[in-house]
Amino acid sequence: MAIEQTLSLIKPDGVARGLIGEVIDRFERKGLKIRAMKMLHLTREQARAFYTVHKERPFYARLVKFMSSGPIVAMILEGENAVQVNRDLMGATDYRQAAPGTIRRDFSRSIEKNLVHGSDGPDTAMTEIAFFFNDLEKV
Ligand code: CMP
Repeated sequence: MAIEQTLSLIKPDGVARGLIGEVIDRFERKGLKIRAMKMLHLTREQARAFYTVHKERPFYARLVKFMSSGPIVAMILEGENAVQVNRDLMGATDYRQAAPGTIRRDFSRSIEKNLVHGSDGPDTAMTEIAFFFNDLEKV
């Protein structure tokens, strides 16, 4: 299995609720390496651009408002099969369908405020990593 990188975001709800450490702990205990990390506060325009794939969805405006409502933490995670490993740790988008023991099942309170984002495939991961990080910011 190839070593992959993926983008992880701890969303404004996760940061506001003091769950940064909890989420990072789960990544590290599973063996994912953090290759870059920063805290930032997206503008509406940046949130719109990041989630442009969802621009026709009914929840897009709310999602953009939520994602620009407070600081987030962006990370590059690396490891074998990192895209899927991260998605397994996060659980399903809707916390009510997420498996027990996943981040979203344990902490989310709504389908929108679902704590974390993770790239959905290796190609998306490359695009999303490039959105948040330049080469100088990666180790
Ligand atoms: P994420 O994995 O970051 O990808 C898109 C985000 O849109 C998703 O997590 C949720 O935060 C949000 N989202 C997805 N579906 C809905 C929905 N039905 N209602 C509101 N927000 C949603």
